Amino acid sequence: MKVSAVVLVLVAFQAAAAVLVQATAPGTPTVGYYNDKCNVSVEGIVRDIVKAALDADITNGAALVRLFFHDCFVRGCDGSVLLDPTYANPYPEKTSGANIGLRGFDVIDAIKANIETACPNTVSCADILAFAARDASRYLSNGGINYIVPAGRPDGVVSLATDAENNLPGSTFEVSKLISNFAAKGFTLEELVILCGAHSIGRAHCSSFNDRLSAPSSEINPYFRDNVLAKYCGAGPADPTVENNIRDQNATALGNLTSYVVPASGGASLDNSYYINNLKNLVLFHSDWALVGTNSTLRHVHEYADNGTLWNLDFADALVKLSKLSMPPGSSGEIRKTCRATNY
Ligand code: HEM
Repeated sequence: MKVSAVVLVLVAFQAAAAVLVQATAPGTPTVGYYNDKCNVSVEGIVRDIVKAALDADITNGAALVRLFFHDCFVRGCDGSVLLDPTYANPYPEKTSGANIGLRGFDVIDAIKANIETACPNTVSCADILAFAARDASRYLSNGGINYIVPAGRPDGVVSLATDAENNLPGSTFEVSKLISNFAAKGFTLEELVILCGAHSIGRAHCSSFNDRLSAPSSEINPYFRDNVLAKYCGAGPADPTVENNIRDQNATALGNLTSYVVPASGGASLDNSYYINNLKNLVLFHSDWALVGTNSTLRHVHEYADNGTLWNLDFADALVKLSKLSMPPGSSGEIRKTCRATNY
């Protein structure tokens, strides 16, 4: 390499390092962070694209809510879950088994592309995800879950499958493990119960609840286990998906169980039906059932089964708290140009 080329590479490297360092040590996220940074309404763009994505395919909503949870529980809300594998980093978070079925990346890409055109190099992917999950929750709850979310998070530059394995809860966890997993992120036992209500929407692969097909009848309704779940999982392609909420499953397949189905509250799908189903042993994962197996959590399952409005409010508060999980101290941050790759 010629000397001039070496100098050019060095200058480029220094500039890159400067951008990285500049964005390091972020401040606390604030409400309306982008109001004076862009000539367009950033949150308006997110809202419109989320609405269009859900109008086109309602299941995008569940995808975005889970994506946000899986982002924030691993290295804080830093968009690390969005990064694709590269030669240098072949196993980012999204390749982890704990992230099976994770989707919604295309919706985030579409939002980012629009925002980059309107207000380049300013809005982080981490913030886009926080806004998108909020808007999806509002849409799926018919406005019942409605909150203001602070912004100003930088995007992280580290993403490791092992971090996802070590930080995300497993569907076979017992209640004590669920409690300690959430406590490690600063969440109380009640907030654990509140956040699991997100399983009123979305879907799961059979491999995520295989254990439930042989669970005792004291832990799962036997008709649901043998005539609904086992039949779905035994048929069709390898590892098919099943709706998380019995309400959303094919009525013919449910047979007599249709009498147990809790109607959607005011047309909302993200609602407290999870708790009502849980009290009847009609939920998918062992980790869901585990919340009724112990008095300390069962108390809260009853509380939210009885009061859907309270759950809407408390779920909104828990999502705001989730949105405040920040990167590990000393981490570098940046504003990514595309959400699937770091800048340099
Ligand atoms: C308590 C611990 C939790 C465990 C063990 C757990 C586990 C799982 C598993 C195994 C799946 C299915 C993945 C698949 O097979 O494709 C799933 C789906 C889902 N989870 Fe959780 N989860 C937990 C908490 C949460 C929380 C706190 C949220 C959000 C606030 C959430 C939101 C969702 C959503 C929306 C889906 C459906 C996603 C889709 O349809 O693409 N989960 N979860």
